[in-house]
Amino acid sequence: MSQDAQKKAAGWEALKYVEKDTIVGVGTGSTVNHFIDALGTMADQIKGAVSSSEASTERLKALGIEVFDMNSVSELSVYVDGADEVNHQMDMIKGGGAALTREKIVASIAKQFVCIADESKLVKTMGTFPLPIEVIPMSRAAVAREIVKMGGDPIYREGCITDNGCHILDVHSWKIDDAKALEQQLNNLVGVVTNGLFARRGADVLLLGSPEGVKTIT
Ligand code: 5RP
Repeated sequence: MSQDAQKKAAGWEALKYVEKDTIVGVGTGSTVNHFIDALGTMADQIKGAVSSSEASTERLKALGIEVFDMNSVSELSVYVDGADEVNHQMDMIKGGGAALTREKIVASIAKQFVCIADESKLVKTMGTFPLPIEVIPMSRAAVAREIVKMGGDPIYREGCITDNGCHILDVHSWKIDDAKALEQQLNNLVGVVTNGLFARRGADVLLLGSPEGVKTIT
């Protein structure tokens, strides 16, 4: 079974967590694209979505799903998103698609975070996937110097401008033992908009596509 088939199976499984007549939180990425396609089959049964990126917004609208400004929504019953890595504590690294800031914002008002992924994303220790950090452009070099002091190896993702007009540093060579502590430490660096650790608010449910079918981990 291909990696994309596993992503598709996880994306469609997430439909079970969507309640009728609600607004759904929608993440970003190739796995979420499968979820959006699935959500399209329920377009007339939901109120709409809050989206985490321009790319997801475009795909949602093309399927006739209304996209709400988050300022007009106080709570979401569910937020569905992918991950670049997820560990057994349901901490995640996200931001491979550069949408980490809006993803973290939308996830923050959701009662339930459903992570959808293929089985290659489940890891014992996070950090093999470089940790994305979104920074205000003028602070990029200063933040990079601080990260080097913390033992990381930051690489500027050249040519990438986020939906918020910011830059991304991808931090290599970090084996992440205490994700919550590191997430907080990175939040405290001046110039950092968001870091790609989703540990303080991790996933509640992991739907993991695998050759044996979709595994539900809670
Ligand atoms: C985007 C993300 C994605 O969820 C993450 O990169 C996983 O992507 P994919 O589903 O394409 O493997 O965090 O910022």
